Amino acid sequence: MDDLNEPILPGTAATDYERYLRTDELLSLQKAPGEVVHHDEHLFQTVHQSSELWLKLACLELAAATSLIDVDRPSKAVRLLRRANDAVALVTRHLHMLDHLSPIDYAVVRTALGHGAGFDSPGFRQVHHLSPAAGDAFVRLRARRRVSLLEVYEHADEADDLYQLAEQLLTWDERVIEWRFHHLKIVERIIGGHVIGTQGTPVEVLGKRIDVRFFLELWAIRDEITRRSPRGADGHGNG
Ligand code: HEM
Repeated sequence: MDDLNEPILPGTAATDYERYLRTDELLSLQKAPGEVVHHDEHLFQTVHQSSELWLKLACLELAAATSLIDVDRPSKAVRLLRRANDAVALVTRHLHMLDHLSPIDYAVVRTALGHGAGFDSPGFRQVHHLSPAAGDAFVRLRARRRVSLLEVYEHADEADDLYQLAEQLLTWDERVIEWRFHHLKIVERIIGGHVIGTQGTPVEVLGKRIDVRFFLELWAIRDEITRRSPRGADGHGNG
């Protein structure tokens, strides 16, 4: 009988847990205590590295969802998009760990960053690269089914899979906007709102970029639905 404590997976680590998860490599990707310019670099690096991992997963799911939409499997795509959306929400939660950084301490951490800046985040680059394709796939799917976006919303019960897909894509936009908003507040809290970033970008520019949206038609259809509604044209009331 097999000794269940003996590793059977390929690799050199002592256990299959470490071999499968490649914990040796993973845990050597952070600076050691003797290498940091300030203790808080550990927190800073952990938040960024874990954010990149979750964004990598979110983007894998988004790309897979896009392929599923293109082969007429919107319900399966919705399941992956829900997961992707929750992953982006986690990245926003991670940001709040940086509330523990003081401006004075971060001023020291910053000296270790060179010209590094979030614009070069592979995760966020992928978000920008992949999102438009998901929207385009949804347009193609509706064309194949000969249904307009308005009809998807008007007949949400019959077109439930398309309705759910539209809503998950809208949530993706919303989650990325939420991340940008919280990122700006973290930045203002730690380095201030009127200074220049490590790659030369004024923090004010981040404020102007909060509202970047990938799926404009999904937002615009709300206007159309409200305008067409009985109270749509009168502009009275609270909402
Ligand atoms: C101490 C915390 C942080 C500070 C002070 C900070 C500061 C900044 C600044 C100043 C910029 C403008 C670019 C420049 O530096 O010139 C920027 C951009 C950016 N940062 Fe951060 N950041 C922080 C944490 C994070 C984290 C945890 C992430 C997650 C990966 C992140 C991702 C980004 C991204 C994606 C951009 C580009 C934003 C856009 O496209 O509008 N940042 N950050």
